[in-house]
Amino acid sequence: MSLLELEGINTGYGDFQALFDVSLVVEEGETFGVLGANGAGKSTLLKTVAGLLRSPSGQVRFEGKPIEHLPAQKRVTLGISLVPEGRRVFPSLTVHENLQVGAHGRRRGPWDLDRVYDVFPLLVKLKSKQASYLSGGEQQALAIGRALMSNPRLLLIDEVSLGLAPVVIRDLYEALGEVTGSGMTVVLVEQDIRQIMEVADRVSCLLEGRVVLEGPPRELTRGQITAAYFGVR
Ligand SMILES: Nc1ncnc2c1ncn2[C@@H]1O[C@H](COP(=O)(O)OP(=O)(O)OP(=O)(O)O)[C@@H](O)[C@H]1O
Ligand SMILES: [Mg+2]
Repeated sequence: MSLLELEGINTGYGDFQALFDVSLVVEEGETFGVLGANGAGKSTLLKTVAGLLRSPSGQVRFEGKPIEHLPAQKRVTLGISLVPEGRRVFPSLTVHENLQVGAHGRRRGPWDLDRVYDVFPLLVKLKSKQASYLSGGEQQALAIGRALMSNPRLLLIDEVSLGLAPVVIRDLYEALGEVTGSGMTVVLVEQDIRQIMEVADRVSCLLEGRVVLEGPPRELTRGQITAAYFGVR
């Protein structure tokens, strides 16, 4: 059984339809990449999985069970955790407090404060620092760490590296390697095509709300990806 299945998803904002008949399957333990230009629908897709948006038709299934009727908080308790775009942390709380908030209503599992500090050692010396003072990379590490504190089975990360320096991105991906290496299932939205092609087991490319290309990176040509990304035919 697949961990996550989307079938015929048509999410929108009021009259505006952002996703059109999107179907995809994410297997347990896999790193699944979602690619696409600005406005392609990547964040909408993650929000639909996390329960922040609803599709009026189609199905979202987690471990084979339909979940589209469940609110976001219930999905967290099932093991679905979203690191939203813009790495939103609680600015007035310290790093440590942010992580503690992430543990609220947590599932049982291997992730706790020690493990998060272990995977993101840069957070250790920042423990008592107010989150608003963190750099972009530090905030991203904290946002991912906070999501891990709920012990998810499915970690959704929207824009891992947007606006970050190459060396910071490298460190984040190294840490993420430890997360995926532990067997975590991860759906990554990433603008950096090269990066995602390196880490993902499979990728899906969205173009104007539709899945136009899907497969393991090694089976996709640069030409196919460029065409799918920019809509060049
Ligand atoms: N709150 C909203 N209200 C109305 N339309 C929205 C809203 N959020 C997103 N959209 C529209 O839905 C479409 C998909 O947006 P989405 O944020 O999912 O794209 P994206 O692929 O994440 O883009 P980006 O790479 O810029 O983050 C876009 O056309 C966008 O303008
Ligand atoms: Mg987005």
